[in-house]
Amino acid sequence: MIDFTQNRLREKVVLIVGGSSGIGLAAARQAAAQGASLALLARNAERLATAATAVRTAGTASVSTHAVDATDVTALEAAFAEVQRIHGAIDHVLLTAGGATLAPLLDHRSIDEQVAPLEQRIRTAIITVRALAPGMRDGGSFVFVGGISTDRPVKGAWATGVATAAAEQLARTLALELAPIRANAISPGWIDTPMWDGVLGDEKSDVFAQIVARTPIGRFASAEETADAALFLMQNGGITGEVLHIDGGQRLT
Ligand SMILES: NC(=O)c1ccc[n+]([C@@H]2O[C@H](COP(=O)([O-])OP(=O)(O)OC[C@H]3O[C@@H](n4cnc5c(N)ncnc54)[C@H](OP(=O)(O)O)[C@@H]3O)[C@@H](O)[C@H]2O)c1
Repeated sequence: MIDFTQNRLREKVVLIVGGSSGIGLAAARQAAAQGASLALLARNAERLATAATAVRTAGTASVSTHAVDATDVTALEAAFAEVQRIHGAIDHVLLTAGGATLAPLLDHRSIDEQVAPLEQRIRTAIITVRALAPGMRDGGSFVFVGGISTDRPVKGAWATGVATAAAEQLARTLALELAPIRANAISPGWIDTPMWDGVLGDEKSDVFAQIVARTPIGRFASAEETADAALFLMQNGGITGEVLHIDGGQRLT
């Protein structure tokens, strides 16, 4: 029997790796409003504390925060053990930790520097799945974050595009490997979150205006709309191996 009530995440435990900002924070607030217990993981403890306050205001039963760099295997595994000690078995995991890298392949950085953003995203996802999938509750799911760069690559952002494509492919392959645990991905278009302040700086408003001009819905999809799609994938037990695009049609133009 499908639960179509407003509190479909009641008594569920949702872990958000990257839950202190942007899409992850929006998902945390929405999950809290639907009755979930939340574990939020990110690097900056102060921003996590602010996020936890916002999540409590939205109405969650319990929220824990874990200040960890998700590229540090040992620290990440320790944080997951702590999450399970606090909350018990986990139902759903959303992986939003990451950023965008704008740097051409033929620049003068070392191979290690060039590959790092790509490798870190994949490593975080793999460590997370290896650590948590075996103990997840029935009906559990992973939601990875891909992105518009998979379908509409940006010159100079090859690492971002390869990372988003990998996240989407992980969802498809892990839907088979982890079954009956489900694996899906959201694929955001350009979303106005704090991530872009750091990446684009002063050029942000000009770049955004150009993208909005070719966006079919005439604006960017919001972090809240993107988070809503992630929660939909958690809650709908019939969907696995899916990549849901929240881009206002940007990949078509
Ligand atoms: N915004 C867009 O237009 C867009 C489009 C397509 C895809 N995406 C993807 O969507 C995801 C979320 O983006 P967003 O826009 O919501 O960005 P955001 O507002 O910058 O949020 C990123 C979150 O991840 C955390 N984080 C980043 N690196 C981390 C690390 N190494 N370890 C642990 N936590 C880490 C950040 O907190 P700390 O900094 O404190 O660690 C923050 O909570 C990213 O993977 C991004 O590539 C975004």
